[in-house]
Amino acid sequence: MFFMTTQILQLKKHRDQIEHALASLLFKERSAPSVLYESMKYALLEGGKRLRGILCLYSASAVNSSAVDGVIDFACAIELIHAYSLIHDDLPCMDNADFRRGKPSCHKTFNEDIAVLAGDALLSYAFEVMAKAPVPNPGISIECIRDISKAIGACGMVGGQALDMEAQGAPVDGNDLKKIHSLKTGKLIQVSPVVGGRIAGATNAQMKALNIFGEKLGLAFQITDDLLDVEGSFELTGKKTGYDKQLNKATYPALFGYKKSKIMANEAIKASINALNEFDIAAEPLRELACSILNRKA
Ligand code: IPE
Ligand code: IPE
Ligand code: MG
Ligand code: MG
Ligand code: MG
Repeated sequence: MFFMTTQILQLKKHRDQIEHALASLLFKERSAPSVLYESMKYALLEGGKRLRGILCLYSASAVNSSAVDGVIDFACAIELIHAYSLIHDDLPCMDNADFRRGKPSCHKTFNEDIAVLAGDALLSYAFEVMAKAPVPNPGISIECIRDISKAIGACGMVGGQALDMEAQGAPVDGNDLKKIHSLKTGKLIQVSPVVGGRIAGATNAQMKALNIFGEKLGLAFQITDDLLDVEGSFELTGKKTGYDKQLNKATYPALFGYKKSKIMANEAIKASINALNEFDIAAEPLRELACSILNRKA
């Protein structure tokens, strides 16, 4: 019981830290055209779980127990990128989703033109934030920016989104589906602990471990996202459920059934935790976070 409470408090502390840092960073963009600024704020602040940012912070702590300059900036940059990806994912030409984080999606509130631009602006700002991050060694910053660019580009998240759109209503097998999920969602999740570890000075063995941890966790996270679309509720996910089926999306439950998908998510989480054997107790928050993905309701 005490253990659970500590875990929840720690999560909340890190989530709040990211939320505050995001609000201060965005405030620096307040001279932008007002409708654009408001749309960025609408899509970025409040409602996100901040999983990717927290992975970045927890991994840095797993490597180095003292505070490491610049990690919070990278955690925020990753959340800026994630927010952009959600705005674009919801657009009528993509998933055409009316709700996100429990409120009307960005394009529903600000129209499509501004929503596209809000996404563009959040993505661009993420790179400014990363370039300005007070990381002790600028060489490390460049390596992190390189890793993140790769993870979100044509061979990463955006490539996965293209495959996801192509797969809608088309026949896919298990390998196709694993690739779509690993790219569209997995890559950004995977790079989050990698970047946190890198900034904190991880050894090669630790970097390898964080990379595998993130890869397995990213896949499991999208499988559970698919499962929540089947069994979840709008109140908790903040998204319309039953929507993947309506759109004929390629998902784990559609291909493998609900029960088998749950087992597959379980296996991926187990593998992610195994990858952390390289670490001692300092990686416990990462292990607990990975475990909590399996029973998540939001
Ligand atoms: C939703 O991600 C989109 C996916 C990649 C599955 P999250 O479930 O992490 O969304 P927020 O940030 O908490 O709203
Ligand atoms: C979203 O996947 C992936 C990205 C945003 C890159 P989904 O389309 O399944 O995410 P939700 O369910 O709309 O959050
Ligand atoms: Mg989508
Ligand atoms: Mg979607
Ligand atoms: Mg989904």
